Amino acid sequence: MHVIAARHRHRTGVLLAALCGLLLSLLSASPPSRAAVAVTDHQAEAATISQGTVAANHTGYTGSGFVDYTNVTGSYVEFTVSADTAGRASLAFRYANGTTTDRPMDIAVGGQVVASKVPFPPTANWDTWAVKSITADLPEGTHKIRATATTSGGGPNLDKLTAGPAADTQAPTRPGTPNCSAITENTLTLTWGASTDDVGVVAYDVYEHGNKIGEATGGTTTQNLTGLTPNTTYDLTVIARDAAGNASPASPAVDCRTAAGSDTTPPTKPGTLAYADVTANSATLDWGAATDDKAVTAYDIRSGATVYKTVTGTPPATSATLTGLACDSPYSLNVVARDASGNVSPQSNTVTFTTRACATDGGVPSSVGTLSSGWSIPWGTYWMPDGNSALVTERDSFKVFKLTKDGTRTQVGSVPNAVTTDGEGGLLGVAVDPGWATNHRVYFMHTAAEGNRIARMTYDGSSLSGYTVLLQGIKKNRYHNGGRLAFGPDGLLYASTGDAQTSSLAQDKNSLNGKILRLTTDGRPAPGNPFGTYVYSLGHRNPQGLAFDRSGRLWEAEFGNSAYDELNLIKPGANYGWPTCEGTCSVSGMTNPKKTWPVSEASPSGIAIVRNVIYMAALRGERLWRIPINGDTENVGSATAYYVGTYGRLRTVTKVPGADQLWLSTTNSDNNGGEPDGADKVFRVNIS
Ligand code: GCU
Ligand code: CA
Repeated sequence: MHVIAARHRHRTGVLLAALCGLLLSLLSASPPSRAAVAVTDHQAEAATISQGTVAANHTGYTGSGFVDYTNVTGSYVEFTVSADTAGRASLAFRYANGTTTDRPMDIAVGGQVVASKVPFPPTANWDTWAVKSITADLPEGTHKIRATATTSGGGPNLDKLTAGPAADTQAPTRPGTPNCSAITENTLTLTWGASTDDVGVVAYDVYEHGNKIGEATGGTTTQNLTGLTPNTTYDLTVIARDAAGNASPASPAVDCRTAAGSDTTPPTKPGTLAYADVTANSATLDWGAATDDKAVTAYDIRSGATVYKTVTGTPPATSATLTGLACDSPYSLNVVARDASGNVSPQSNTVTFTTRACATDGGVPSSVGTLSSGWSIPWGTYWMPDGNSALVTERDSFKVFKLTKDGTRTQVGSVPNAVTTDGEGGLLGVAVDPGWATNHRVYFMHTAAEGNRIARMTYDGSSLSGYTVLLQGIKKNRYHNGGRLAFGPDGLLYASTGDAQTSSLAQDKNSLNGKILRLTTDGRPAPGNPFGTYVYSLGHRNPQGLAFDRSGRLWEAEFGNSAYDELNLIKPGANYGWPTCEGTCSVSGMTNPKKTWPVSEASPSGIAIVRNVIYMAALRGERLWRIPINGDTENVGSATAYYVGTYGRLRTVTKVPGADQLWLSTTNSDNNGGEPDGADKVFRVNIS
């Protein structure tokens, strides 16, 4: 039984006061009280019927039948309903209308129409019943409720009327100001002033700012909060709820600070933070566990002091995948450990990486401008993690330059121990450590007295210093020295080596030549390499193009001998065929290229990827090839050539960070090009 207490109706003999009262009630828009009506089913067949018959010739009715209204205007069914107190009531008519036409009816209470032409629309057939509800004011006492047909179709078939109080739409009042007591490091007791409600408060929700942290039921106006962090301010409010789900306004807020913790010892600094599996929108981080005199309860992964993600658990995991990252964007992240008392460890090292390219495929070279001139065989080009400048090497002068986005060129040093081969050796590739912001490490591949090397130097942003050999013993020759360096999304260094004009080396798994190598930044074979050595893939002749796509897959371009140049998708441990195959062949165990070109049309060096399109700089072909990757498949579409013969021999192409733009450099001042020193240029190519 839902019986509701009466609300006193305010009456006054003073007209002005009455008007004011009316105005106030209008302004405060306080909903009318709900009638005290027992929720009761009134069967139509037991009601007063005028121009209608009791029938049972369809299924699905309740009681012993239903009323079949005579198909005339004015036919009606009249129910008797009592309300213990006046107020809003819900009147729900269960009916069927097997026609395709509405059968509107007037609903009257005590002879007064309270809802006219209430629609009783079709219910598909006479066995299908629906409920039409209205809300009406009921005076106190017993009343006739009449449903009268208003069209010549008559009323629908009427099963019953269910009367009851109107739905509860009135929210409880605002709870009184909360108060904190019994405050400890991790707990406190919150107490507040009770709310009132026309039906009844069923619960109070306790909020910290916008987050619900507790719930008090059964009319209780107090709640113990546990699991709090010591020495921390909590901003607390309380909201009352009724059974219908109406929520009160929030109570006034109270700021309560937990007691200072007895544990003042922070956890130790987490171990080395590293990243892996960088995609366009995610990256995985892992770090060494921190220790604490009590226990580490959480790690915060942060950018500066801004928390990106918190890892909790007992103990919390020491790795996490960050999702929802922006594509093609730089991230610099650190991690700190926390204990239950909120003590924070020193922060770990910072890792810096750029998420993979955004997923909007396509674009074509639209305009070209000269960015910088006066170069002599610029070879390696690698962007700084901040994307504002790149380092560019010169092959035969062994100089290294900083080239800014606006084209300002400054020499930052030279690479020691570099020699030429009077051919294609010299100072070749460069790569910048993704963690350069903190470790200032840069890497070079160059020819030295004993062969080709990979070395590490320090670059402070304006000059180069130091020199550490990371890997020696890569054979050299006049031609076929490979030379490209690139960091993968795994944070590891990839290098392309030529066969040193000794083609059998390419098939020799124990040789460093004719390979893609993968190494750590300390010059060790990368963990997880397919043969436990530096070798990542084999069967290459003279690879000089390396680029990672948005899925982190490695694409490679290499010079063929006299027939076919190749664009390959590199898989660890795969054999790309040289010298058994040049271009595509069908030899078991050898992986075919994704695309080939006659050497006269390509002779490719650098490659870069913008919007899922591979751009390939061609020397002998004197053109820029555009090769779209087919979505995220392993296939590429048709290749198209740009600038054929316009700028001469093209060596290196890189994607400008944060822009749909390429930098493109020439090699016209070498023996093959025949131009004088200083004749080479770097162009900026817009993609749109
Ligand atoms: C049919 C149907 C009745 C209904 C009548 C009507 O005769 O069987 O139940 O009342 O149509 O149109 O009103
Ligand atoms: Ca209520």
